[in-house]
Parts: sequence; C-alpha cells; structure tokens
Amino acid sequence: MTVNMIIATFAWVLLVLGFLARKKRSRHIPLMHSAIILDVGLVLYLQVTRDAVQTAMEFSLSLPEQIHILFSTLALVLYFPVLYLGWAVVRGKSGARSKHRKLALVTFVCRTLGFLFMFSMWQSPAS
Ligand code: HEM
Repeated sequence: MTVNMIIATFAWVLLVLGFLARKKRSRHIPLMHSAIILDVGLVLYLQVTRDAVQTAMEFSLSLPEQIHILFSTLALVLYFPVLYLGWAVVRGKSGARSKHRKLALVTFVCRTLGFLFMFSMWQSPAS
C-alpha cells in the first residue's frame, strides 16, 4: 500500500468514526472536518504531483479504476454542500438537518465506494 493509500484510508476511517458519532456534535463536527480536509488536501497534492485529473480524463484506466475516480470525485464535490448544510444545522436553520442527512448519506456512500475501488490501483512491489 502506498503512503497516499494509507492517508486515504485514514481519512475514510475518520469519516466512519464521524458518521458513527453523528448524534454527538462535539465529536461529529471535528471528525468530519478532519476527514474532509485530509481528502481535499490529498487530491490537491495528487493533482500537483501527478496531474491526477488529466490522467482520469484520458480514460486510459481500467473500469474499476475509473469507478474509483468517479465516486471519489463525486464525494469530493458533495463535501462542499454537506459542509454548508452541516453549518446551517448548527445555525439552527429550519429544514437543514434533513437535507444535511440525505446529502451526507449519499456522500458517505460515494466516498465508501471510491475507497473500496481504490484498492484496484494497489500494485504489488514486484509488478
Ligand atoms: C461527509 C461528511 C458528513 C456526513 C457523512 C454527515 C452525516 C450526518 C448524519 C447522517 C447526521 C444525522 C442526522 C440526523 O440523524 O438527523 C448528521 C448530523 C449532523 N451533522 Fe453531519 N455529516 C457530515 C459532515 C458534517 C459537517 C462538516 C458538519 C459541520 C458543521 C456537520 C454537522 C452536523 C450537525 C450539527 C448534525 C446534527 C447533530 C445532532 O445534533 O444530532 N456534519 N451528519
């Protein structure tokens, strides 16, 4: 497993822990922020060092690798409205909680699928 995969796994574990603590704001909010910052940071780093987006756009990758990129990108884009709605819940905006929950669940599923398909990119040192 590469260092980037370990970081991505750590971010996903934070997301799972934050999800399990969804009823406890004092834990849920910092865990979700940490996971999101780590994920966004990793994508920015991969973009700078490897032109990740250009590689994805070339469609030269295998189907599982493309599925990984599709769901990971979806999750990354959805993080922003989820963040916005999360803070709207904190501000006490009516209706925000149900919207946050629905969109957050979709985001969590996307990120989990992206995470599982990430392992299709795992190459043994010998190969
Ligand atoms: C991908 C990231 C996130 C996921 C998957 C997620 C998921 C959830 C879920 C499923 C709930 C339960 C809603 C309910 O049962 O009614 C919840 C509640 C909540 N979330 Fe998030 N969330 C995420 C990020 C955030 C962020 C960044 C904030 C920032 C403020 C936030 C703030 C809240 C608040 C305030 C609640 C209500 C907690 C309560 O008092 O019960 N969430 N979240």
